[in-house]
Amino acid sequence: VLMNELSGLRVLEMKLRENLNLSEVIIVPGDSDEDPWIKNEMGKAAVIRLKQELNGNNVIAVTGGTTIAAVAEMMTPGNKDQDLLFVPARGGLGEKVENQANTICSTMAVKARGEYRLLHLPDQLSKETYLSLMEEPGVKEVMELIHSASIVIHGIGDAKTMANRRNSSVAVLEKLEHEKAVAEAFGYYFNHQGEVVHRVRTIGLQLNDLKHSDFIMAVAGGSSKAEAIAAFMKHGPKKVLITDEGAARKLLAGS
Ligand code: G3H
Repeated sequence: VLMNELSGLRVLEMKLRENLNLSEVIIVPGDSDEDPWIKNEMGKAAVIRLKQELNGNNVIAVTGGTTIAAVAEMMTPGNKDQDLLFVPARGGLGEKVENQANTICSTMAVKARGEYRLLHLPDQLSKETYLSLMEEPGVKEVMELIHSASIVIHGIGDAKTMANRRNSSVAVLEKLEHEKAVAEAFGYYFNHQGEVVHRVRTIGLQLNDLKHSDFIMAVAGGSSKAEAIAAFMKHGPKKVLITDEGAARKLLAGS
């Protein structure tokens, strides 16, 4: 029975890869909406896949969220001949501490027996503050590391869920509603067509910077995220997706 189930998942992976036009899809059994442990299973799969990508010197940028927190939770030590440096992809987005990229980045680094550098920034930045922070030597140094990251690991969220979780202002919530935002990743909000309709101003990787990364891995599952995953993948960057059966089946049913 297990063999049949697994080969069924391999078929789903192939279909989803073609459907979303990705280079690779890995699906774990279950639906993380119904069983939160499935996030750890996605985390485990992400760690295994990440390890295949590592070489002597690695700078790895990670985003926040409960799914990437699960990746950190499942992280295991790297090989002795591998240098691992973890950095947060972007500064604060209004998340609780345990969901922030900084926290996840340090947990991941400790579990991998690697190093980390953090961005210590307030969440809401005015344009003036943003510009002057960018001139701070400490920030500049971490920014350079972030830009040099060859590996990026990120979550994808449902737009409304993320905006509410981050206590966004009424004005932002109304804008997202009006623009029909369905997905969120890296603090950017996307509509159904994968167009950016809003972004949170914060230091770190901007969406366009991702073009320079060699390996981008999205980790996102649960049937409630199907629409969000589809929308974000229309925008790209299209690389590797680690998801669960719940999201995969919903995604394929809608096509
Ligand atoms: O950007 C996407 C969110 O960080 C995803 O959060 O993994 O808790 O659903 P989540």
